[in-house]
Amino acid sequence: MANFITFFIPLALTLLFSSLVTASYHQSISPSLLRSREKLTHLRFYFHEIFTSDKPSNLVIDPPKVVADSPLPFGSQVVIEDPLTIGPDVESKQIGKAQGFYLSATQRPGLELEIVMGMALTFLEGEFNGSSLSVLGRNKIFNEVRELPIIGGTGEFRFARGYILARSVKVDYHKGDATVEYNAYVYHYSSTSSSSHEIFNDGVQFMTDPILSKI
Ligand SMILES: *[C@@H]1O[C@H](CO)[C@@H](O)[C@H](O)[C@H]1NC(C)=O
Repeated sequence: MANFITFFIPLALTLLFSSLVTASYHQSISPSLLRSREKLTHLRFYFHEIFTSDKPSNLVIDPPKVVADSPLPFGSQVVIEDPLTIGPDVESKQIGKAQGFYLSATQRPGLELEIVMGMALTFLEGEFNGSSLSVLGRNKIFNEVRELPIIGGTGEFRFARGYILARSVKVDYHKGDATVEYNAYVYHYSSTSSSSHEIFNDGVQFMTDPILSKI
């Protein structure tokens, strides 16, 4: 009997815990719950790079030691917190901000600037207040129109995918200041517009997990 208990109880516990673990960490959800809520949104706003001001919107880090005939030599890294406004005037209403970085990623000298940008565009107004779009891509900044992929998002922009067409409106080549019109086209599924959204907030329950909440 003792042998049976010492054998059976650990076995039963192992089975119990392993089944709890398999049962609790993933589940399949019908994609149709999302499909009906898919939205396609066009946003237009203006992005401002402000180098020359008491409070520049960017910071150049670790300038490369190479002497290159370029305002932004290969390897330059810039961190940005740029305002996004409703109109081309930097003084027009701010509707969001762009936080991120860009890297000078071409070794060709001169003004053939090619950068790779990674940014979170967070909106601060209206329906999209608090929601963000994640953008990552190559930007050949002297082209008339550049295309940047939207690779994700949060809040109203969950599951976001799409693209941005960026067009310079005003560039001061001496100071580096620039105003760029962004037209974003994005498919997304809102986190709040349907009663089924609880399904996609399930992970939140783990926030109150007695172990995880101590980490
Ligand atoms: C945006 O959301 C924040 C946080 O919820 C809130 O404080 C702010 O007033 C909102 N802004 C607008 C314009 O609704």
